[in-house]
Amino acid sequence: MNRIFEMQRKMLRKIAEFQNKAMERDQPLDWERVHMISCAKIGEMLALKRGADTEMAAIACSVHDYGRILTGKQKNHAVAGYEPLLLFLTQCGCFAPDEVELIARAAKKHSNKSEVGTPVEEIVKDADVLDCYQYGLPIEREEQRLRLTKVLAEISG
Ligand SMILES: [Fe+2]
Repeated sequence: MNRIFEMQRKMLRKIAEFQNKAMERDQPLDWERVHMISCAKIGEMLALKRGADTEMAAIACSVHDYGRILTGKQKNHAVAGYEPLLLFLTQCGCFAPDEVELIARAAKKHSNKSEVGTPVEEIVKDADVLDCYQYGLPIEREEQRLRLTKVLAEISG
């Protein structure tokens, strides 16, 4: 099976595990579902445009908020998701160890929008900002606004 769809199916199942849990969430589970899928689409498009790995980009975008799905919290969610994501991706059984590391690292680093990383890390950060913008979420931090301006120029050119 296509690994992008496979991962998204697993992510949707993971999100569903939290459906009836009484815990406070900074973002509703429906946002996690929508954002996961649409970030992946944007990531794939950006990777195609940049000559990066479209599959790794789409998968990293799909799992980038894994930490927030598990904890419900926005604060520190990128770093909080790293170790659980390594396990989740490994258990999936469809990734080589270097792919597991590449994807989990992109998720770990996605909140640091001022740092420039690998092509896939950059795609996750840009897709995250663009997707939030598309859905009308506030783009408050200066480094987020800078990324948004750049990526909007990139996709309009
Ligand atoms: Fe995030």
